[in-house]
Amino acid sequence: MTTVNDLTTYIDNDADDDILDLRALGPRFRRDPYPVYAGLRARGPVHRVLTTTGTEAWLVVGYEHGRAALVDPRLSKRWSHASDALRLIAPAPGTHMLNSDPPEHTRLRKLVVKEFTPRRVESLAPRVQQITDDLLDAMLAAPDGRADLVDAFSFPLPISVICELLGVPFLDRRSFRAWTDDLLSATDPAQQEATVARVGRYLGELIEEKRRHPGDDLMSALIRTSDEDGDRLSPDELLGTAWLLLVAGHETTVNLITNAVLALLTHPDQLAALRADPSLVDNAVEETLRWDGPVETPTFRFTTEPVEIGGTVIPGGGQLVLVALGDADRDPARFPDPERFDITRQPGGHVAFGHGLHYCLGAPLARLEGRIALRTLLERCPHLALDAHPGELEWRPGLLIRGPYHLPVRFTR
Ligand code: HEM
Repeated sequence: MTTVNDLTTYIDNDADDDILDLRALGPRFRRDPYPVYAGLRARGPVHRVLTTTGTEAWLVVGYEHGRAALVDPRLSKRWSHASDALRLIAPAPGTHMLNSDPPEHTRLRKLVVKEFTPRRVESLAPRVQQITDDLLDAMLAAPDGRADLVDAFSFPLPISVICELLGVPFLDRRSFRAWTDDLLSATDPAQQEATVARVGRYLGELIEEKRRHPGDDLMSALIRTSDEDGDRLSPDELLGTAWLLLVAGHETTVNLITNAVLALLTHPDQLAALRADPSLVDNAVEETLRWDGPVETPTFRFTTEPVEIGGTVIPGGGQLVLVALGDADRDPARFPDPERFDITRQPGGHVAFGHGLHYCLGAPLARLEGRIALRTLLERCPHLALDAHPGELEWRPGLLIRGPYHLPVRFTR
């Protein structure tokens, strides 16, 4: 376990400004970042770091300061506020609510909320169940009783659901995997720029097609939506919103399912408790979100003026600020015995879906998918087990999305 002392060896104390190079912590940090964050939290709420892609950022740890940063209006979501020195490439085509501030954010979110209604989400439940059943039929047919749960189940389920919701054709789903992998975990800016352009072209064509042949899907609804003032999403905003929903609705939920299964398989007492009382499934989803949520640090925020947090002043002028959601949700000041994965814990209060204006729009859909996926998987696989040592799993390299690339499992029906 990494301690505060270990951390100090990575900080150059002779330099004018201490900066922790997270790359120097190696794969161990990706496998288990929590002790590192806890070590930082013990030193204070704000730390200068080099991210896993070498970008300079200010990392906010702890629950209280993390939540405050998420709603601080001096931290802008607009990439045009980023300091030029950061040399960042926006990983998305178009404009959307998650890269805008009020009043633009208010307007964009309102137009989408109008169509992304609880009724539309609830009406997806039978399809989510059907897709889940079909995927498990295919997975459980493997003659050797083995599968990669990510490939066979947790990846295809959310992408199928979000493509269906939006009305994105089935055949294009594979491309999305490559594209989102490129954009969310990219270390090569040229490749990232090329992928942004390719995705922009693809979605532009899709939107044109929907304009000509509208359906019952959310994308068609977003194209025709207008509020009382006759406001509409511009072509650039439609593109951005379609991309946001596809990525946000997919990468995150993949890792909710994967991380939940991994947590249960490595905590047999919790798995047994859930099997004994399946009504605990909603709690199991919430506890996974808290204990090992899919979003480790949410999307970028940039200072528009100096911001003081817990005695540290982050300069203005577009400094990058990251909030360690994963650490906030393991802060003992908020959650008793936070390192313990306990599906009977009183759920709620975690920040896995963010907090404030940008609180996750898709939380009800993610919870629906998580609940159906876990319940059905456990019902269909009474003897599910890990088929690898947890220490051998390869974890995603970036700080945004947390989850292993693959989860080998064994099962009998
Ligand atoms: C377990 C799954 C999910 C997790 C953990 C998650 C997490 C988050 C977080 C942390 C944010 C806030 C980001 C920030 O403040 O920088 C967010 C925003 C958002 N999420 Fe999710 N999300 C999940 C699933 C989904 C799904 C299924 C959808 C849509 C289908 C979705 C759509 C969105 C949108 C549109 C926003 C932007 C909201 C705004 O800017 O007002 N998410 N999500």
